[in-house]
This record gives sequence, structure tokens and C-alpha cells, in this order.
Amino acid sequence: MDIKGKKVLVTGAGAGIGRAVAVMFADRGADTVVVVDINAANLASTAEAVRAAGGKAITMNADLSKPEEVIAMFEDADRATGGLDIVHNNAGIMTGEPDFPDTVMEKMIAVIQINLIAMMVGTRIAIEQMRRRGAPGVIINTSSIAAFSTMPADPAYSASKHGILAFSQSCKPLHEAYNIRVMAICPGVVDTAIVPKDAEWLAPVLKALKILHPDDIARAVMDIVADDTLAGEQVTVSNAPAD
Ligand SMILES: NC(=O)c1ccc[n+]([C@@H]2O[C@H](COP(=O)([O-])OP(=O)(O)OC[C@H]3O[C@@H](n4cnc5c(N)ncnc54)[C@H](O)[C@@H]3O)[C@@H](O)[C@H]2O)c1
Repeated sequence: MDIKGKKVLVTGAGAGIGRAVAVMFADRGADTVVVVDINAANLASTAEAVRAAGGKAITMNADLSKPEEVIAMFEDADRATGGLDIVHNNAGIMTGEPDFPDTVMEKMIAVIQINLIAMMVGTRIAIEQMRRRGAPGVIINTSSIAAFSTMPADPAYSASKHGILAFSQSCKPLHEAYNIRVMAICPGVVDTAIVPKDAEWLAPVLKALKILHPDDIARAVMDIVADDTLAGEQVTVSNAPAD
């Protein structure tokens, strides 16, 4: 799909990967970028960056841990844009300290609500809207290299990322049926606020690998949108070994 002139929505766009993706969409000629986040101040600064890159920006402050807010936000975005062409379900959190099994119960549940359920609800409603318009669409869901291994310190995060991958792969038939391509992106370790840089379990990883920049992931997202053959698969952006 050609990004030029398209209407795009990115969740978790207040910071990190989501912000880089939102700004790169504007830079590549998207007409409108709907930026969604729980952090209103960060959203305003992402919107400014989107406008500086030449796109229209619409901010939507939503708590994606609540399915009813996810649905309302997509309905608002559909009305405000006249229909979304590209959706990136990207918002996510880790459980944080203390490590499993002493995890804070509410945080463990929130990981599944934000990372997995909001992604499923967002994908489901975006498909409904795209089908209603009879328009082709691209939906990208942020999984992780955590989908290919285990994480004893944060199994809920690992489970959420496995789930995002399986869900996205299961959407493959929608390509042939409706020309809607659902894809997962699996970043390696990226330099953003989510990474617990002081965690003991991550120290050997950070020592062995070159950490990615959010723009590395944004470029991979642009490539997924551009390649009309990709559906129901994952694109992995791996870390190079440290020098
Ligand atoms: N950074 C990495 O190393 C890495 C690696 C693989 C996958 N990921 C995934 O990339 C995605 C983006 O993370 P990031 O690295 O940019 O981290 P980040 O913390 O910089 O960005 C996450 C964004 O999601 C928003 N968010 C959190 N809870 C929300 C909620 N309830 N409702 C709405 N927005 C909410 C945050 O405010 C933040 O702006 C996440 O899904 C993360 O799991 C990150």
C-alpha cells in the first residue's frame, strides 16, 4: 500500500516506537495520523512532531486497558478521518518489579489487558470498519522477540507477545477474503522507556547486543505497509551483536 494520502492510527504514540512510527508515517506522506496514548502531554508533543513532518495529527487520549475505551476511540477515529487505511496496535507495558512470582497482581493483569486484549479489540474493530467501507487495509501489531522465547522474570509479558503473534498469524485468511493484511512486528531490544535497563536479568543481553533505535522499527513498519504480499506473518527486527 502506498502511504501517501492515507489515514493512519498508531497506539502508544506518545513515546518510543509509537512516536517514531507516527512521525515517519507523516514524513512518508500520510494525510492524517491519529495518535493514541494514555499520556496527554506526550501525545501533544508527538502531534507537534507529526505536523512538523507534514501530516495532519489527531490526538486521542485513551486508557487502552479498558476495552470500552478502545472501541470508543476507534469509532471516534473512524468518524474523524472518514475511515482508517492503516492501524498500528503498538501500546504496551511490562509487569515491572518485583519479578515473577512476586509480581503485583494488578500489573500482571494490566499487561494482558493493554498488550493483548486492546490489540485484539483494536484489530477486530479496525477490520469491521475496513470491511464496511470495502477498502483494503493494513493492521500491524507490535509483538516482540519475546514471542520466540521464555521470560522467567515477566511471563505475563512473554505470554502477551506470544499471543499477539499467534493472533496476527491467525488473521492471514483476511488477506484473500477482504484485502486486509494483518501483520506482527517483532522488535529486538529498542532504546525506549519500557526497557528495564537496570534489571539484573537484562544485563547480559544489553552487554551482548547493540540496542536498536525506535526509527529502526518505524522503517520496518513502513516496509510492511509497502509490501502488499505480506499477511499473517511476522517481521523480526533483530539486534546486531555488540562490537
Ligand atoms: N523497547 C523494546 O525493547 C521493545 C521490544 C519489543 C517490543 N516492544 C513493544 O513495543 C511497544 C512500544 O513500546 P516502547 O518500547 O515504545 O515503550 P514506551 O514505554 O516508550 O511506549 C509505550 C507507550 O504506550 C503507552 N501506554 C501504556 N499504557 C497505555 C494504556 N493503558 N493506554 C494507552 N497507552 C498506553 C505509554 O504511555 C507509552 O507512550 C510495546 O508493545 C512493547 O512491548 C518494545
